[in-house]
Amino acid sequence: MANLTFSFALSILLLNSYAFSLNSVSDRNALISFKNSIISDPHAILSTNWSQNTSVCDWIGVSCGLKHGRVTALNLSRYDLAGTVAPHLGNLTFLRYLDIRFNRFTGILPFQLSKLHRLKVMNVGANAFTGEIPTWLGSLPQLEELSLSNNSFLGSFPGAMCNNTPNIKILAISWNQLEGQISPNIWKCTHLEKLSLSFNNFSGNIPREIGRLSFLTKLYLGYNNGFRVIVGGVPPEIGNLSRLEILSIDNASLTGIIPSSIFNISSLTYLSLSYNSLSGSIPTFHNLPKLENLYLDDNKLKGLLPDDMCNNMHRIKDLSFSSNQLEGQIPRNIWKCAHLEMLSLSFNNFSGYIPREMGRLGLLTELYLGYNGFQGSIPIFQTLSQLEELYLNYNKFTGNIIKL
Ligand SMILES: *[C@@H]1O[C@H](CO)[C@@H](O)[C@H](O)[C@H]1NC(C)=O
Ligand SMILES: *[C@@H]1O[C@H](CO)[C@@H](O)[C@H](O)[C@H]1NC(C)=O
Ligand SMILES: *[C@@H]1O[C@H](CO)[C@@H](O)[C@H](O)[C@H]1NC(C)=O
Ligand SMILES: *[C@@H]1O[C@H](CO)[C@@H](O)[C@H](O)[C@H]1NC(C)=O
Ligand SMILES: *[C@@H]1O[C@H](CO)[C@@H](O)[C@H](O)[C@H]1NC(C)=O
Ligand SMILES: *[C@@H]1O[C@H](CO)[C@@H](O)[C@H](O)[C@H]1NC(C)=O
Ligand SMILES: *[C@@H]1O[C@H](CO)[C@@H](O)[C@H](O)[C@H]1NC(C)=O
Ligand SMILES: *[C@@H]1O[C@H](CO)[C@@H](O)[C@H](O)[C@H]1NC(C)=O
Ligand SMILES: *[C@@H]1O[C@H](CO)[C@@H](O)[C@H](O)[C@H]1NC(C)=O
Ligand SMILES: *[C@@H]1O[C@H](CO)[C@@H](O)[C@H](O)[C@H]1NC(C)=O
Repeated sequence: MANLTFSFALSILLLNSYAFSLNSVSDRNALISFKNSIISDPHAILSTNWSQNTSVCDWIGVSCGLKHGRVTALNLSRYDLAGTVAPHLGNLTFLRYLDIRFNRFTGILPFQLSKLHRLKVMNVGANAFTGEIPTWLGSLPQLEELSLSNNSFLGSFPGAMCNNTPNIKILAISWNQLEGQISPNIWKCTHLEKLSLSFNNFSGNIPREIGRLSFLTKLYLGYNNGFRVIVGGVPPEIGNLSRLEILSIDNASLTGIIPSSIFNISSLTYLSLSYNSLSGSIPTFHNLPKLENLYLDDNKLKGLLPDDMCNNMHRIKDLSFSSNQLEGQIPRNIWKCAHLEMLSLSFNNFSGYIPREMGRLGLLTELYLGYNGFQGSIPIFQTLSQLEELYLNYNKFTGNIIKL
């Protein structure tokens, strides 16, 4: 009986090691096929290091699991490799991490990669991949991070992808040639933390469903010149994103007002809506205690700067409202924006005297007040010891330069 158990155990062991060697062999074959489809390896990374004599687990950029010896990570970023991705890579069925960004890969992402069911991270950014974004990406159940940025992907964003990838946290597709509407189905990628769709050619409106992505911390949608927002422009639902830290939608043909809910996202550190056609007035600063950068340049904003602008903005460093149709005076409580390093109000219709209180902004390095209707004497703030750039041109200053 003991003997029988022993031989049974032995046969399991043999079977296992057979399966093990077979799989390891197919990993090796997959990597050799991958190497063979590289047509340029200027730093001789693969040609010298990926030697037939050594275990693939010792090859540069390759990591293996300790228990099973299977390839779990392929990290070949920034080696200037050129060529296509061999479909054989799909045989690396234990792969969890694939990073080949900053190379010169061309062609499409082969369908066989859909066999990589354990893949958590796929970063193929900064290459020259083309074709449509494959829908099979949506069948990778463990995928948490997908970066396809800075390639030549075409067509629309496959919103259906979000039906099956509930774990995805990072989705970066900026710098491609995508077009069409941003799919409202995006909200089904419920765990998204970073969404980057900027520098494409998306059109239509920003789907209000984005406001349901409650884990979002970074949202980049700018430089999409197809945007022609019919109602609302920036959907007020974005104000529901209570973890949002970065909101950047520059140069996207946005119209309409800035919803006041946006100025109520207490987690925001960076807000940029420049180079659009946003109108109306600057909303009341409801609750932006962490905001460090605010850029609203080059829009059609009218009216006054809110009086209480600096009341609860302890961290603000850059405040930029140039090229709008703003008027009135600089609020006296500007000094409460105590960490201000850059203030830009140029190309507006501001008037009145420069408030003496500006002299308390001891960290200011850049001050742009040109092309407005400021009047009175030109102030020289002796207290602004860090000041490097000061523009006061095209105003209505008179009389002497006064030292403040
Ligand atoms: C390949 O590179 C790795 C890591 O730099 C090194 O440990 C290994 O010895 C190299 N193998 C060969 C054959 O050059
Ligand atoms: C690799 O193996 C070949 C023969 O299979 C041998 O000629 C060569 O010297 C070996 N290279 C190293 C670095 O061991
Ligand atoms: C991948 O390689 C790059 C550069 O060689 C390195 O900075 C990065 O930490 C590596 N990533 C992993 C997961 O090993
Ligand atoms: C690996 O993948 C290629 C192409 O996708 C296929 O032809 C091959 O049979 C696969 N299996 C092994 C064990 O290499
Ligand atoms: C895009 O990728 C190229 C190389 O592939 C790189 O030189 C360039 O800096 C990248 N651009 C951005 C914006 O990442
Ligand atoms: C961007 O989309 C518009 C239509 O929305 C089209 O006319 C234009 O050619 C596209 N540009 C590029 C670079 O694809
Ligand atoms: C989201 O925002 C809209 C408009 O700002 C609001 O009417 C709605 O109640 C919010 N939804 C949630 C779940 O907070
Ligand atoms: C906005 O986008 C258009 C079209 O791509 C471009 O020509 C223009 O330079 C961009 N404006 C800014 C300020 O970047
Ligand atoms: C600001 O947010 C608070 C709570 O998050 C909410 O009660 C209030 O209605 C919001 N105000 C505006 C103007 O969105
Ligand atoms: C600028 O403001 C002055 C009064 O301060 C007003 O007379 C003038 O019409 C305004 N110009 C524009 C372009 O709004």
